[in-house]
Amino acid sequence: MTNKAVLITGACGEIGQALVQGLAKKGGYRIVTTDLMPLPENIQAMSAEHLQGDLVYRVKQLYDYDFDLMFHLAASLSSKAEVATEEAHRINVEGTMQLLMLAAYKSEKRGRAVKFLFPSSIAAYGFSNLATKIEAGRVTEEQHNHPHTMYGANKLYCEKLGEYYGNYYGQRHLDPQPPMMLDFRAIRFPGLISAFTLPSGGTSDYGPEMLHAAAQGKPYSCFVREDTKISFMAMPDAIKAIMMLVDVPREYLTRQVYNICAFSLTAGEFRKRAEQAFPGTKVNFEPNPRRQGIVDSWPEELDDHSARTDWGWLPDYDINRFFDDYFLPEIRKRYSVRPSLRSLE
Ligand code: SER
Repeated sequence: MTNKAVLITGACGEIGQALVQGLAKKGGYRIVTTDLMPLPENIQAMSAEHLQGDLVYRVKQLYDYDFDLMFHLAASLSSKAEVATEEAHRINVEGTMQLLMLAAYKSEKRGRAVKFLFPSSIAAYGFSNLATKIEAGRVTEEQHNHPHTMYGANKLYCEKLGEYYGNYYGQRHLDPQPPMMLDFRAIRFPGLISAFTLPSGGTSDYGPEMLHAAAQGKPYSCFVREDTKISFMAMPDAIKAIMMLVDVPREYLTRQVYNICAFSLTAGEFRKRAEQAFPGTKVNFEPNPRRQGIVDSWPEELDDHSARTDWGWLPDYDINRFFDDYFLPEIRKRYSVRPSLRSLE
């Protein structure tokens, strides 16, 4: 059996690095990676080829390849996108558009659908105020789609673009013999936390930043209020979800954009967990009004019943397993911290 040809854009990002490792471990793929940066050394051997540079300007080069699968992870995250909105739009929307066109062209030419996996986000949601967010609780994919951020608007629009290229491109689905169209699938991720990498430019970053700082004995000033609550997930669950969704036969899918969710906690609860695990943790709360506003517009919980029903999604890590079986053991190895007695209470 020949290896599936895979493209991973944004391969140096947090999801990218974890996905390269996940696919390499699973085997059966020829992975081509792209990013603005060179690939980190620990994953270089897992990529058959790395194309370094700006995707929007280099997409022509990708027409020389025949990808079965495209994971388009490159993006400018929510906080960064607010300070460079045009640049964010170029990366998040134009980059996605270019790749969708490539996938659409190849699908038609080969007569075989290119699978296009797109990470969307809780940023696709937006509540007019905090009271509405709290009242809404667990939200379905269709509710409260009124993003407050450039990044969220970009993600929501790209979901629609993906659906367009996958179903209605040029209205050719109405032709007597419609062409093969690409197979677009998206997951709306909550805030992701990895024990191995740190996010940059996002607004859910206070969670991972606080934990990594505490593990290193560094003080941390949290940019949101203590009572701020959104949905989070362990990175291995995010990778598991991507690999599950990619493998599901198309006919099982009742939609193209799926919520997934694992656990929710407040920034104050993050601090409590950090204090239990790392004595001497120093976290204070100094909310930044703009970043606070962004997180206040994101849901506390996501309704992921469609993913559970259609493709058997279930997270491995609830809140306790996240800390006890994944994050703390890995982070202690990484920063060589001894477990504290309090963490064993
Ligand atoms: N983690 C992302 C961010 O904070 C949300 O998808 O921008």
